[in-house]
Amino acid sequence: MAELVPVEPFDIVVFGATGDLARRKLLPALFHRWCDGQIPGSSRIIAVARDALSDEAFSKLAAEFALADSASAARKARWTEFIQHVQYIGVEADGAGPGWDALKLQLDECPDKLRIFYLALPPSIYGKTCESIGKHGLNTARARVILEKPIGHDFHSARLINAAVGEIFPEDAIFRIDHYLGKETVQNLLILRFANMLLEPVWNAIAIDHVQITVAESLGAGSRAGYYDRAGALRDMVQNHILQLLCLVAMEPPASLEADEVRAEKLKVLRALRIMTAEQAGSAIVRGQYEAGVSGGKEAPAYADEVGADTDTETFVAIRAEIENWRWAGVPFYLRTGKRMRRRRSEIIIQFKPVPHDIINADSGIMQPNRLIIRLQPDEGVKLMMMTKDPGPGGVRLRYVPLNLSYAETFDKNYPDAYERLLMAVVRGNLGLFMRRDEVEAAWRWTDAVVQAWRDGACPLHFYAAGTDGPERATTLLGRDEREWFDA
Ligand code: NDP
Ligand code: BG6
Repeated sequence: MAELVPVEPFDIVVFGATGDLARRKLLPALFHRWCDGQIPGSSRIIAVARDALSDEAFSKLAAEFALADSASAARKARWTEFIQHVQYIGVEADGAGPGWDALKLQLDECPDKLRIFYLALPPSIYGKTCESIGKHGLNTARARVILEKPIGHDFHSARLINAAVGEIFPEDAIFRIDHYLGKETVQNLLILRFANMLLEPVWNAIAIDHVQITVAESLGAGSRAGYYDRAGALRDMVQNHILQLLCLVAMEPPASLEADEVRAEKLKVLRALRIMTAEQAGSAIVRGQYEAGVSGGKEAPAYADEVGADTDTETFVAIRAEIENWRWAGVPFYLRTGKRMRRRRSEIIIQFKPVPHDIINADSGIMQPNRLIIRLQPDEGVKLMMMTKDPGPGGVRLRYVPLNLSYAETFDKNYPDAYERLLMAVVRGNLGLFMRRDEVEAAWRWTDAVVQAWRDGACPLHFYAAGTDGPERATTLLGRDEREWFDA
């Protein structure tokens, strides 16, 4: 099968084009797809922010990340050609003004072409921006809109945003991004679970002891501290990325890979998540914040120093979550994420139960239960830890060894970054990689209860030194259940 499937020509309007996300991720993603020949030459990229910039000035801004040192010389040579398809227009996204007329003029040149609006903007102006798109008649029948996460900061604000966007665009034209769903290894979760007979019969509370989901980052909040301090780890990572991973691990097999089949199953998981009271949160959640330390061999400042003020925002959170349904009754899902941790790694660990009856002589070594390790990044791969006999004479000696699928060793190829994949999925209209309105709202319902428990003082902040595994208290969270975090 051809690996590169060109998409139909499209116009994409990137609102927030001078921002961090657009410059670091979106424009490089479009550039790479262009270089690989996936974007037809008649496509146009219209970059929008408030400043009055010339195309040349914007091109310089955009080049900073797209032409980073790591880009190959061949790729860099294509930049001049690519940037000719990029035009900058100054527009007050949530207001009126002449910028909108200029934008309309451009888009109306191709009224029937697929048209995509990417809102890389503060979520508080998603609604107003869509209203302006509607007011200027830009929402043609072939228009789609992409919303970045987080959609709002709680259930109520998410509902308002969804309602306002829904006034202008039908649900099947709204693509709510969670870039984790575009990661190769996250997509592979569906294949691993539903294209292998082996796992499904043991994928439940009968055979599984618990699940761990860790998304650890070695970087700090850095230049995004302003945004991050209003969000914190719970809203920035758990409400979206981690809950999406949890859904893919815990959902029932969908009838097909149709977007709504998958999304309906994910929604059931979110609805089955146990909503915590303040008392339950007090014993099931650990909040942390990094202090100064050494990270990646360098001195790293405390989070409060990056923010420039005392702050109660968490940069780490560990949660013992529970899913109240037949499949998962009594199986804890330990979720953990943090900034400035010892090393960057995202992984899912499925810890199986011990064998029901041990027939091996105790002198042969320690029996350990199977463990499935799904490494999302870096060093993508899947490992199944198994008991085996150490070969050779002299009786049975037990060894706990991995069946190891390393992506790097098995698949000798580079694959597109999540944003590249997701942008092309929008052009194709593949909604399966995006969150539906009810999923986002259900995730907020659960998150809001946690936030309320915190407001009630249930979870005081625990500090950890930058470059470590988080607060000691997170170890106790599992220790109390006679379990431990695995460092795979
Ligand atoms: P930035 O603050 O870096 O950029 C915001 C952009 O929006 C700027 O280009 C700004 O330009 C523009 N903007 C703000 N207000 C208006 C307005 N009224 N009219 C037109 N343009 C406006 O934010 P980020 O790029 O970091 O984030 C953008 C969105 O993406 C947010 O929703 C964020 O939560 C989300 N996101 C970001 C990630 C990241 O890694 N950065 C990761 C995941 C999600 P100007 O002020 O010059 O007009
Ligand atoms: C973003 C968060 O959604 O995901 C960031 O806003 C975080 O704070 C990033 O750093 C992590 O993404 P990745 O792909 O680097 O794991």
